[in-house]
Amino acid sequence: MPILRPYGSTGMAVSLLGFGAGHIGDPAFSEGACGAFLHGLLDAGVTLVDTARGYGLSEERIGRHLAARRGKFILSTKVGYGVEGLEDWTHACVAAGVDRALKVLRTDHLDIVHLHSCPREILAQGGVIEALEQAKAAGKIRATAYSGENEALAFALASGRFDGVQCSLNLCDQRALGDTLPVTRAQGLGLIAKRPLANAPWLWAERPAGEYCEVYWTRLKAMGLDPGDLDWPELALRFAAFHEGVSSCIVGTTKLEHLKANLRVLENGPLPADQVAAIRAAFTACDEGWDGQI
Ligand SMILES: NC(=O)c1ccc[n+]([C@@H]2O[C@H](COP(=O)([O-])OP(=O)(O)OC[C@H]3O[C@@H](n4cnc5c(N)ncnc54)[C@H](OP(=O)(O)O)[C@@H]3O)[C@@H](O)[C@H]2O)c1
Repeated sequence: MPILRPYGSTGMAVSLLGFGAGHIGDPAFSEGACGAFLHGLLDAGVTLVDTARGYGLSEERIGRHLAARRGKFILSTKVGYGVEGLEDWTHACVAAGVDRALKVLRTDHLDIVHLHSCPREILAQGGVIEALEQAKAAGKIRATAYSGENEALAFALASGRFDGVQCSLNLCDQRALGDTLPVTRAQGLGLIAKRPLANAPWLWAERPAGEYCEVYWTRLKAMGLDPGDLDWPELALRFAAFHEGVSSCIVGTTKLEHLKANLRVLENGPLPADQVAAIRAAFTACDEGWDGQI
């Protein structure tokens, strides 16, 4: 049975391995393969699906293929932009973004809705948070959340107005362990760890200039980590998953065999404490402005 964790104090439980649905938004991934993959991940026991307005075909495909199994998983999405005729990052855009997501995802409620990398100054104006709170009061969403990093994330946490957050947490992006997790634990918030495999930078022999994982590739080299007897995905996932207060790690993939391998390695439990300490020490020793990566 897959490992479950509470999503903060909301009463919702999520699988420790969640699915990050960014990659299935790519039209190059065929509709048939996508449908089989989405059903396969639910069959394997993954119960958190995280998508966003900005992930191409992702929301539409989840709605199309999983509407009939809606009660079987916790559905998380992100709003704040991309509603025709409305200015991004306004109260109206967040409110309409929730309604749009309900329609596209073919559901009567969304479990977790994040403000997706909303700038700190906008958060400070309050309107976008209020729009989420109103959607929650209206029963359209169950948990309000913030997704982002650094100063904006700190502001969101200090506001005390969210049920959960999503932030980067992996071998190469560890600030959340000291800055964010103590706060989410104290406030009883859910925490979704994004980019938990650091976008697999070990796959690149040479610096992957312009790729999403370039910063992490550079950091991994500088840290000089050695996975020892483990393969890299296992080391990375077991490192990210087993910190107290992590609700779920949302790994992105389109390959069911990778998803199942990730479920299996989590059954091996936390890494030994001395290995975790060495990974944390390697990050701290190199951390010169190594802030959270969106
Ligand atoms: N809120 C935000 O702003 C934000 C930003 C970034 C990401 N996210 C969320 O977080 C999710 C995860 O982030 P991500 O996909 O960028 O990064 P990630 O999960 O750290 O890494 C994904 C990469 O790992 C590979 N992978 C997965 N399992 C593997 C395995 N067992 N063995 C070898 N390779 C494996 C995948 O390749 P294969 O396809 O070959 O498996 C993919 O290239 C996203 O999908 C999205 O939902 C949110």
